[in-house]
This record gives sequence, structure tokens and C-alpha cells, in this order.
Amino acid sequence: MSRKTLSAETVAIVKATAPVLAEHGATIIRHFYRHLLHDHPKLELLFNPANQGTGEEKTRGSQQEAFRGDFFGQEGARGAALTNVLNGSMTSLDDLPALKATVMRIAHRHASLDIRPEHYPIIGQYFLASVKAILGDVATDEIMAAWREAYGVLADLFIEVERDLMQKNAHAPGGWEGFRPFVVRQKVKESEDAASFYLSPKDGGPVPHYEAGQYVTFRLEVPEFSRRGGNTVYRNYSLSTAPGKGYFRVTIKREFGAKGNPDGVCSRFFHEHVREGDVLDVSTPFGEFTLVDSPRPLVFIGAGIGITAVFSLFQSALDRGIDRPIYFFLMMRDGRHHPLRREIEALAQRHPNVTLHRCYSQPSAEDELGRDYETHGRLGLGTLGRNLPGNDCEFYFTGPIPFMRTIRGALHLFGVAADRVHYECYGPHGPEIEADVR
Ligand SMILES: Cc1cc2nc3c(=O)[nH]c(=O)nc-3n(C[C@H](O)[C@H](O)[C@H](O)COP(=O)(O)OP(=O)(O)OC[C@H]3O[C@@H](n4cnc5c(N)ncnc54)[C@H](O)[C@@H]3O)c2cc1C
Ligand code: HEM
Repeated sequence: MSRKTLSAETVAIVKATAPVLAEHGATIIRHFYRHLLHDHPKLELLFNPANQGTGEEKTRGSQQEAFRGDFFGQEGARGAALTNVLNGSMTSLDDLPALKATVMRIAHRHASLDIRPEHYPIIGQYFLASVKAILGDVATDEIMAAWREAYGVLADLFIEVERDLMQKNAHAPGGWEGFRPFVVRQKVKESEDAASFYLSPKDGGPVPHYEAGQYVTFRLEVPEFSRRGGNTVYRNYSLSTAPGKGYFRVTIKREFGAKGNPDGVCSRFFHEHVREGDVLDVSTPFGEFTLVDSPRPLVFIGAGIGITAVFSLFQSALDRGIDRPIYFFLMMRDGRHHPLRREIEALAQRHPNVTLHRCYSQPSAEDELGRDYETHGRLGLGTLGRNLPGNDCEFYFTGPIPFMRTIRGALHLFGVAADRVHYECYGPHGPEIEADVR
């Protein structure tokens, strides 16, 4: 990581003024987005409007689409994430090791979107202009100079880490830079609202190795999605198999708009328009939600479509021949809304070290307790507590943000060490997941 440091004076100013910035964070970020996206229509395409706090009225998602709906906070999670991180990072710039985990997570996301060094001065310019516009005279020249310097150091840090990640992927066997055309070889219905897409490179070359739990970014042209900069949409999808199968597979849930809200742009496109034989632009795999080297039992926990990355880890652990106890807890609405069901059940049957625990929140008449699922209800503290082998395990989970908060809180209550807790968010990182842990 970058060795550039800030003067003690700059650090002192940034730390002293951070609370004011935090207090006005939502207003600053709205101002920032409005001006940035207005002046840079091409950059606008990179951002998902569903993740922004630009002042558009949004309602909380229904239970049915809880997975995505939950990250629409008042200001939008992405807005919150950006201010939190800018604020948090800038005030920890004198403690780079502490910043590393946050920087790495964001850098993977940026690199997967092909964010380039030349983007950083633009973001910095608009961010600082918004700080000045909102804080007015409070933001003196001295304060602005300190924040400018701090942003520069943070930007350099991201640029360096992202360049390393991109180069590593580009030079790996079968790797590439940016996006590569892939052909959809197969489209398979997985459940009432999820389908899998099997992809291989159009040029016939090999699929690169990836780590189970990683995701790719799709760059799609969606005609219905028109913005001033064009129709391009970027979305991340976890690879939903272990590596080494000779293809990429993603499993995508169709997101219906609740209460008259629009349907999910990209998932609708995949479900309604993408056919076998179509060609799609795909990034190399990124992400740090991967199996850690550890002798402990493994516990995988997934809810809804969050099962995809967890399944990849589960399958990979079995492919590697791991024969210590593996627990797989999942929460679905019912058997019809249970993607990858057959694969999970077949693997659990074949491997005596696997214990599968399925929670159905609203089992249908076809679902039989004991045969199709183990618990009628939601997965939480009680079910986990009764069925876990103890707390000395490696825990991996994904799901809707409130679900993740419940699981994170439960693991904390069970006394699980923080470094054995691993999770991925299927949207901007939700700081509230850790809310019950502090
Ligand atoms: C690392 C990572 C891995 C992921 N892996 C997977 C995966 O394996 N499978 C998967 O299915 N998804 C996954 N996702 C989520 C995926 O990237 C998309 O976010 C998801 O498919 C929704 O995208 P969309 O374009 O369909 O919906 P968007 O257009 O982004 O909309 C999101 C939601 O908001 C609602 N909405 C849109 N506009 C409004 C509005 N104005 N008011 C209220 N509601 C609104 C939509 O109905 C939808 O439910 C992952 C995300 C990340 C970050
Ligand atoms: C120091 C500067 C920056 C900081 C602190 C920052 C912070 C963040 C954070 C916190 C996220 C959410 C990631 C997650 O939760 O996993 C994010 C995502 C993102 N960032 Fe940045 N970022 C910076 C610079 C940039 C630049 C220069 C660009 C280029 C345009 C950019 C584009 C994006 C995009 C497109 C996303 C995904 C958002 C979405 O899904 O809508 N960021 N960034």
C-alpha cells in the first residue's frame, strides 16, 4: 500500500472537522451526486441509481423483495457509504493498516467496474466543491486545503491498490483487462424467480481461475434503460459455482418492483431478454469473500439469492476434499423459491460431514417438514444456537441486510471471534450489519 503520509497538521485539521462533515454528510452527498452526474453523463452510467441518495423518493421494499429493498435508507446506502468512508478513511489516513480492509473491499468493487486513475480527480473536485458549497464560510481555505490533501492521499491509495488488482487479473492465465465478450451457453430456470446463466469466452479461450465466493461485473446495453450517457448498465453477480468447471455461472433473481416501483433493470433484462447464444461483456472475477485457510469447522449461512456466493464456497470446500464438519444453514420463503436446491441437497446427501439446515419462512403445501426443510420460520439466534456445534468455526454468510445484521449479532452473542466472521453484501456495504456488535 501507498507510503504517502499526511503532515500532522493536516491530520489534526481533518480529524477536528470530520464531525461537521459527518453532520452534513447526506446534504453534501446529494449535492455531489447532482452536480457530478449532471456534468458527467458517461460517469453517471457507472452508478446504480437504486443505490444513490440523490433525493429521489424511494420506498422500502416489500418483504418479497427484501433482499434489495432494505438498502434504501433515507439517503440511500451508497450516499451514506461514500460519506462514511470518505470521512472514516480520511480521519484514519495516519493509520494505514487500520484502513486496509475497507480500502481492499472498495478497491475490488472499483476494479470490477473498471474505475480508472483519471476518474479520481473528477470525484475529488466535485466532492470538495460540494463540501465548500454546503459548509460555506465554516470551510475556511485552511480546512479545504487539508481535505484536498487528505483526498489526494486516499485517492493515490485506491489507485495503487486497484491498479495492482487489475494487473494481477489481466496477467493471470486466461485473464484480461476491463471487459471480455462471453457467450451465454445455457440459461436454466432455478426457481420461481431465479435463473442460472452459464458463460464461456466468445474467443474460445480458457476461463481463468477464480476464488470461490468472488463476483464478476456485467456491462450490459439495456435499451429500456436510457440515460443521457447511453444505455449501459453495470452490475455485480457472484459466481455461483466452485472454480474449475470450465465456465462461469451466475444465478440471478428477478427483482420485481414493489408498490408500483420499477422492476430491477438488470435482473429483468437477464430474465426477459438474455437468451442462449447472446454475447455479454464480463469483467474478471473480484472480491474477498473467499475461503480462509483454517482448520476449523465451516459454517455457511445464506438467505434468498444470497445463497449464490455461499453455495460457491460450500461446493469449493467439498471439491477440495475438506472432510471436517460443514454446516449449511439456509433461509428461503419456500421450496419453490429456493435456488440451487437440488445441487445443495445432492451434495449434502453425498457428504456425511455436511449438516444441512433449511428454514422456510412460508412453506407451501408441497413442502414437508423433515423432508424438505427442518425449520418453519426465520433463521435467527434460536435456530442457530440450537444447531451450531459451538463458536469455534469459520462463519460465511450473505443475505438481505437485516438478515445479515441478525446473524452478525447472533455470532457476536455466541462469542465468535471477529476474524472468523466473513460476509458479502449484495449492494453497497451495510455498516448497520455491525450495529449490534459494538
Ligand atoms: C458482490 C455482489 C454480488 C451479487 N451477487 C448476486 C447474485 O449472485 N445474484 C443476484 O441475483 N444478485 C446479486 N447481486 C445483486 C445484483 O448486483 C443487482 O443489484 C440485482 O440483480 C438488482 O439489480 P437490478 O438492476 O435488477 O435492480 P435495480 O434496477 O438496481 O433495482 C434494485 C431494486 O430496487 C427497486 N427499485 C428500482 N428503482 C426504485 C425506485 N425508484 N423506488 C423503489 N424501488 C426501486 C427494484 O425493483 C429492485 O428491486 C450482487 C451484488 C453484489 C454487489
Ligand atoms: C477516495 C475516493 C472514493 C471513495 C472513498 C469511494 C467509496 C466508495 C464506496 C464506499 C463504495 C461502496 C462499495 C461497497 O460498499 O462495497 C463505492 C462504490 C462505487 N464507487 Fe467509489 N469511491 C471513491 C472513488 C470513486 C471514483 C473515482 C469512482 C469513479 C467514477 C467511483 C465509482 C464508484 C462506483 C461506480 C461504485 C459502485 C456504486 C454503485 O453500485 O452504484 N468511486 N465507492
